[in-house]
Amino acid sequence: MGDEKKGPAVSRRRVLQSAAAVAGGLGLKAIGLAPSAEAQAPPATTAAPRASGGATMIGVPFEPRPVVRIGLIGHGGRGTSLLHDLLGIPGVTVNAVCDLVKERVESAQNEVEKAGQKRPQGYSSGEHDFENLVKRDDLDVVYIPTPWRWHVPMAVAAMEAGKHAFVEVPAATTIEDCWRLVETSEKTRRHCVMLENCCYGENELMVLNMVRAGLFGDLTHAEGAYLHDLRKVLYDDHEGLWRRDEHFTRNGNLYPTHGLGPVAHYLDINRGDRFERLVSLSSKEASLSATRDKLPASDPRRKDTFTCGDMNTSIIRTERGRTVLLQHDVVTPRPYSRLNHVAGTKGAFYDYPPRIFVDGSGKEEWASVKPYRKQYEHALWTRLRKLASKSGHGGMDYVMSWRLLQCVREGLVPDMDVYDAAAWSAPAPLSEESVKSGGSAVEFPDFTRGRWQEPRLVLVGEPARTAV
Ligand SMILES: NC(=O)c1ccc[n+]([C@@H]2O[C@H](COP(=O)([O-])OP(=O)(O)OC[C@H]3O[C@@H](n4cnc5c(N)ncnc54)[C@H](O)[C@@H]3O)[C@@H](O)[C@H]2O)c1
Repeated sequence: MGDEKKGPAVSRRRVLQSAAAVAGGLGLKAIGLAPSAEAQAPPATTAAPRASGGATMIGVPFEPRPVVRIGLIGHGGRGTSLLHDLLGIPGVTVNAVCDLVKERVESAQNEVEKAGQKRPQGYSSGEHDFENLVKRDDLDVVYIPTPWRWHVPMAVAAMEAGKHAFVEVPAATTIEDCWRLVETSEKTRRHCVMLENCCYGENELMVLNMVRAGLFGDLTHAEGAYLHDLRKVLYDDHEGLWRRDEHFTRNGNLYPTHGLGPVAHYLDINRGDRFERLVSLSSKEASLSATRDKLPASDPRRKDTFTCGDMNTSIIRTERGRTVLLQHDVVTPRPYSRLNHVAGTKGAFYDYPPRIFVDGSGKEEWASVKPYRKQYEHALWTRLRKLASKSGHGGMDYVMSWRLLQCVREGLVPDMDVYDAAAWSAPAPLSEESVKSGGSAVEFPDFTRGRWQEPRLVLVGEPARTAV
């Protein structure tokens, strides 16, 4: 692993931070390439260090418990699939469910009863009824698959009520809210885990094993993306009711974590390296307006106007000198891809379809991963393949739920903590900021306050500090 962190990048940043301190509250200006110290200073609300909310949550295991008691807020598309998986995992009880829509609460209650558990208490009395759910004294973990703007208020309420918050992606949409999650988790000693299922994909976990085995050598570059034609979804009666709105006012990488989470694990982000800065540009907007124009003339949504460019391309540089290409496009007619690429001094892997190149293998061509699969299959997939085959997204949803609840039951350190939730969600607001400034570099805050430098392995039973 090349180590450039003590090189000029760091000292330049320290100089710039001093300049920012002298200049005082510079606001949200991105780091430009212009020569003046003020123009280059890190934006106060993004990169400036913050006082700690309490001791770190890095390396803190759950307190072991034989049965995990769950509350669910949100029984829409994602909540339905999460609940289905949870009910197929031993050592789990679902004691409370909440949704704005009464029928969705009832259907969740029926599902739980059908699985042989007691009918859970339902909450459907308005937008803030979740506050009553989180106060219950028979919950350990609150699952939060709701629209993006509710993630932070719900996760904060859950943690403040003494529950671990398992929140859908992206955990937060502003840097301020990323910090709010970090500070609340530290203060309350509750975990905030972002439910990044792609980290548990069969290929992703196989590549993680390959990376650990050194198959690709010293890693220098990775790529992740969310390239998914959601034109229909953005105009449907589920996500369409709230997700299209994000495209009205925001322009950037709105959904960064599916591509970035697995890549962050390959690169030991927050476990020996960290995302340091990002540059971003968006293409023009075209495909969503073309979709809108096919609606009947009487449809009020014909008035929609969109700000978000069809394709956003961001590049992240890490403290240890690696680069990550991160793309977002949910409107172009095209096959699905998260890119899922990693490259180093000895070879490379690319997904969609999966293919590999190992230095010295002869032909300068991608090869099939088939001959590698047995050797590098992840233990979670060896163990869970049969059960996972019935679950969504190629089985990775079940593997994620099973593994995260294993961490809770057995008192392990979670694979993904609040610092990961913050670092993987941050590219959304940071890319918006960079796009606004014409592609200037913006700095990531160090949500770990320096602890990223401690090497740790992800997805193992890690040694315990004090359990929570
Ligand atoms: N990890 C994945 O693969 C994946 C896949 C799909 C969606 N998601 C994420 O899951 C989340 C939910 O997406 P979805 O597709 O289920 O959306 P959805 O619109 O189908 O469901 C959201 C549900 O939340 C409920 N809700 C909204 N506000 C509420 C409130 N204040 N209190 C209680 N309930 C409330 C709605 O009534 C609805 O039933 C989003 O964050 C999305 O990004 C993740």
